[in-house]
Amino acid sequence: MGKDIQNESLIIVSEIMTSVDPIIKKLIEKKFEKQEEFIPGKSVISLIKPSFGPDEILESLDSLLTTNVTMGIKVKKFEKLFSKYLKSNFASMVNSGSSANLVALSALTNPEFSQKLKKQSEVITPAVTWATTVFPINNVNLKPKFVDIDLENFCMKTDDLDDAVSSNTSLLLPVHLLGNVCDMSKIKEVSTKKDLLIMEDCCEAHGAEFKGQKVGTIGDIASFSFFLSHHITTIEGGMVVTNNESLYELSKAIRAFGWIRDLKHKDELTKKYPKVDPRFMFTNTGYNLRPTEIQGAFGIHQIKKLDKFIKIRNENRRYCTKRFLQYEDYFIITKEDPRTKSVDFCYPLTIKKKSPFSRESLLKYLQKKKIETRPIMSGNFLEQPAIKYISHAKHGKLDNSKLAMKNSFFFGNHHEIGRKECEYVVDVIAQFIERKLWKK
Ligand SMILES: Cc1ncc(COP(=O)(O)O)c(C=O)c1O
Repeated sequence: MGKDIQNESLIIVSEIMTSVDPIIKKLIEKKFEKQEEFIPGKSVISLIKPSFGPDEILESLDSLLTTNVTMGIKVKKFEKLFSKYLKSNFASMVNSGSSANLVALSALTNPEFSQKLKKQSEVITPAVTWATTVFPINNVNLKPKFVDIDLENFCMKTDDLDDAVSSNTSLLLPVHLLGNVCDMSKIKEVSTKKDLLIMEDCCEAHGAEFKGQKVGTIGDIASFSFFLSHHITTIEGGMVVTNNESLYELSKAIRAFGWIRDLKHKDELTKKYPKVDPRFMFTNTGYNLRPTEIQGAFGIHQIKKLDKFIKIRNENRRYCTKRFLQYEDYFIITKEDPRTKSVDFCYPLTIKKKSPFSRESLLKYLQKKKIETRPIMSGNFLEQPAIKYISHAKHGKLDNSKLAMKNSFFFGNHHEIGRKECEYVVDVIAQFIERKLWKK
């Protein structure tokens, strides 16, 4: 009887979907079909443009109508598609990139992980990153040790990485910032030599590669973010990726209360604890960081678009860089390491110390010309007020991080920015420089 009602309800949903589908699809397609025409000086060069459309909306609507809205088959399908895309063994979706970092670090420090990181040991990570690369390190009782960045890719400097490692270091946590790729050869070399684990923060680097291998599959565990402004989006969302089955099993438990429901060995655990109802059995510690099925619905369509989006971002960057090279006296320009494939989260620039203009004056000018800008994430995290709450260490003077805090910025580079928009931005910056030089 129950099954009949369920089937009937599914038939109704299917009928609704087939009858509303063409109407809604048409309306939604109409809304999304036209990209606004770019008018120089009038249109805003935005930092982000949401990348979802009819496919994601209809898929979400289907989840709402079936009332299957909590983590289920669509999340699972997206996890499979994402790990296939990266060529990684396992992926578990969570509700944000920050949660992915928390879950990954919690797994690495979990008592059930055979290579569990020692309490209060050091995690080497760049001083320029996002706040929630840093906070979860303290949350799991580890200590960030900040190293400097390279201003040509905003990733952690690796030339003196050996020296940054102490006898109390347990983890290297490179961040592939702004879609650029860290020197994973050097990071692997140091990790092997000093017996350290590697966690990659790939929250800004979906699809980026080092020597043909996708980032997120090179270290022991990795995190991704699908926030609205990232290469692909699930509105909010994140993913923990690993080739290590033990870390995968722990990630699934930590993501959902520490319960056994999603675990491979749940039957064995059920037998081991016969007095506990397996439906509510908790064998580890955990949180509730699960995504919803709507996020899965977005993901399964977004992943198909990722390579197309990356291609647009790469083309934009190549064009801008070619033109900005004539202004190398004034700017440090990002350079792509030939061993890597960058995926261009945005277009960053650093004003050189000797330039005849300040970041403030340039950004004011850009704002007047309707070009949106932002600083490079947290800048030098040691200059953020929140650092007072973070037990930490640092290696070296962090001069580049300090300069990034003061003189770097980025403007938008995304799937809806093209040649005309890039031309406009470079022209405006060129115009600004000419004026400054002329006034001198
Ligand atoms: C490098 C990095 N790590 C972590 C995060 C956190 O991701 P989320 O915003 O999805 O929590 C971000 C967010 O942009 C990020 O850029």
